[in-house]
Amino acid sequence: MQKIVIVGPASQILGVKIAQELEIESINTEIKKFPDGENYLRINIEDETLISGKEVIIVQSTGPSTSADQNARLIELFMMIDAVKRMGAAKVIIVAPYLAYTRQDKIFRPGESQFGNVILRLINALSIDEFYAVDIHAPLIMEECLCKAINIDSMKLLADYVKSKGAKDIVVVSPDKGAIERSSAFAKHFGEDIPVELLEKERNVKTGEIEMSGTLNLKDKDVVIADDIIATGGTMATAIKIAKESGARKVFAVATHALLLQQAKFRIIKAGADEIIGTDSIDNEASKVSLAKIIADYLK
Ligand code: R5P
Repeated sequence: MQKIVIVGPASQILGVKIAQELEIESINTEIKKFPDGENYLRINIEDETLISGKEVIIVQSTGPSTSADQNARLIELFMMIDAVKRMGAAKVIIVAPYLAYTRQDKIFRPGESQFGNVILRLINALSIDEFYAVDIHAPLIMEECLCKAINIDSMKLLADYVKSKGAKDIVVVSPDKGAIERSSAFAKHFGEDIPVELLEKERNVKTGEIEMSGTLNLKDKDVVIADDIIATGGTMATAIKIAKESGARKVFAVATHALLLQQAKFRIIKAGADEIIGTDSIDNEASKVSLAKIIADYLK
């Protein structure tokens, strides 16, 4: 079956790179907002036969940025799915490297919605064939998918990048208990005996404020702090500060999805990070590691 990539507005570079890896055509979209605030999207084609009968790969991350928030990105994704199905796509594959709302995968306080799960149920309602995300915050919510669903691991790519920067005597620091499994898996990409140190993080579920503690011995070590998401940078900056106070030489702030909202860059660099490293799941200055090849390999 012939394949084509629809490059969503949030993933313009990654979408084109995936199409190039797959050696297939890519098409972008046209978007605008109506005066009442509603989103408009159309796939940028005049001829529906470019879509009908084809395997259509839609690439759209759903992270917030200065140009659109995650709600708009999700609506655009839903619109792309509907549009290609209406044009007779034979198979629809979604690549949403960052899936919004996955941090809402539990009820933390009475009265909340478990909206991460709802997002996947909404995608189910649109009847797609395959779904790919990268380092999803709550991998269990992928079980909501009624179709084939894959959570791609970007850790090796991120570790390779850190190695290319000449890091030595590496210690991986996990910024909270939730990240320990990920950090341990990440450390293995630097070598079998790379130590993993754990910080304890408590987030106040009412105010969102965090408190972090831990005693680390990082004297003359290059420290890699790895998280799935950097949002406001509070978690990362606090972990960096503790790492520096514990003697760290260089500190690499690594996240698959470096959203870098509000004052995150300022906080992280001021805390003492040498570099902020993310993937092109989020299209910004931290996207130093491309996911294009690994995603294309899954789609081949
Ligand atoms: C939470 O469990 C996530 O893994 C990240 O640690 C969190 O989203 C980071 O948020 P922020 O950058 O706002 O501290």
